[in-house]
Amino acid sequence: MKLLYQQMLAFFAVIFTTVIIFGLAFIQFSNRMVYQDTWKQLESYADSVFQQSVVVNSSGEFEGIQLGGLQNSERLLANQAIHFSIYIKKNTIAYPKNGFSPVINKSQWKKLKSGETLTTKSARRFNRTGKSKTQSMTDIIKPYRNGNGELIAVVLVGSPVANIQSNMRKIQHNLLIAFLISGLAAIFIAYGLAKYSVSRIDRIRKAAHKIGEGNFDITVPTKGNDEIDGLASDFNHMTKSLKASNEEIKRQEQRRREFLADAAHEMRTPLTTINGLLEGLTYDAIPEESREESLQLMSNETKRLIRLVNDNLDYEKIRTNQIILNRHEIRVHEVVNNLVEQLQKKAHEAKDQFVTQVADNVTVYADYDRFVQIMFNIMQNSIQFTNGGIITITAHNDKDKNCVISISDTGIGMSDDQMKNIWERYYKADASRKNTKYGESGLGMAIVHQLVKAHKGTINVSSELGKGTTFTLQLPCEDKKTES
Ligand SMILES: Nc1ncnc2c1ncn2[C@@H]1O[C@H](COP(=O)(O)OP(=O)(O)O)[C@@H](O)[C@H]1O
Ligand SMILES: [Mg+2]
Repeated sequence: MKLLYQQMLAFFAVIFTTVIIFGLAFIQFSNRMVYQDTWKQLESYADSVFQQSVVVNSSGEFEGIQLGGLQNSERLLANQAIHFSIYIKKNTIAYPKNGFSPVINKSQWKKLKSGETLTTKSARRFNRTGKSKTQSMTDIIKPYRNGNGELIAVVLVGSPVANIQSNMRKIQHNLLIAFLISGLAAIFIAYGLAKYSVSRIDRIRKAAHKIGEGNFDITVPTKGNDEIDGLASDFNHMTKSLKASNEEIKRQEQRRREFLADAAHEMRTPLTTINGLLEGLTYDAIPEESREESLQLMSNETKRLIRLVNDNLDYEKIRTNQIILNRHEIRVHEVVNNLVEQLQKKAHEAKDQFVTQVADNVTVYADYDRFVQIMFNIMQNSIQFTNGGIITITAHNDKDKNCVISISDTGIGMSDDQMKNIWERYYKADASRKNTKYGESGLGMAIVHQLVKAHKGTINVSSELGKGTTFTLQLPCEDKKTES
């Protein structure tokens, strides 16, 4: 069964059951009200019958019946099919003498004696005009007592239930019409309510269908905060992450393609060189005096290939957390001084000058070899892209137990676009920057980035074309075990 019909049925059942319960309660209530009204009326008839007809002597006892007004009243009431009888003792009927009066039983009489007014409903044989017939009656039996509490007389007034039932039938008839109308209204309301909630589910279903077809730019509108809205916003959330992961997959695929192309490109250059030289040697196309140099060149190119492969493997290992970091506290100024000494020759060739501002007590918590690798790559780049400039290295420990190291140069700098990409493998801001002297392949910064990440640190770059570049490293300066 369709959800719409299920919901409709549920709503309809609830609405209709409520209406029926109220209806039945109402019938019950009005039934009681009609009876009570009738009894009250009958009681007032009884009172007037008693006052008009019963004569009481000075000692407060029954003396006789005054027939004058009584017969008038009787005729009047007979028109409404109301009958009455007057009793003076148990089953001693004072009026009407000739008619049929119901029997008052022992327990009823007892109650009457104690002053209680009784109401009864009974089917009884009726014989007033000589013809006998059975009629459903409701009676009120009321005792009248004198000042001493002694019973003077009992007046019974009865009315056929048919009178009451005709009133009730009118009420029931109206109620039936109300039932039909509310039943119809219930169908419409149930349909409206069901349609509304089903349409909201339908919206989500349609969106899910579109996503299945690969369209991730879908959002289901949400307003309130009920369960369906909750589902819709969860759904939107899911769509967003699906979209993000879909884009990530595409990006990864793109990067994989680029990586393969770049790696192939990087390897082709040295391989072509080696191949050319080998052919030259094979066919004796290289003069004797250049042979030594050719062999040296081949050796360099081979080393570059090996380094390229090693760097690649290294990068992959760091990226996938396969390296073991043997971390301890390192004095930063020792590492910086060693590297400055080591790179002094290259800096000299580029007419660059090192300025270091690192206090003796500045420490960093890192793997020694990897920290050297990070610093070496950054400092080597500074020399590579600076000619006749200054390379400044500063370091300090901040209050958050970090070591902040900055390496800035006054070199060629980078544009914003170039800066965004320097952490990518094989990225070189532009081909003209490729300095064959260093034989770099665009893996240096990518490795630095992964290493810093592995050390739970951060690295930032700021640069301006023609002005220079500053790398700012932030690494922990002590074991922050509690945080990791
Ligand atoms: N200090 C710097 N100044 C200017 N450009 C830089 C600097 N450091 C890195 N770059 C840019 O980032 C690119 C990536 O650097 P890197 O990964 O070390 O590769 P490579 O040194 O092989 O070119 C460089 O090619 C260069 O364009
Ligand atoms: Mg480099």
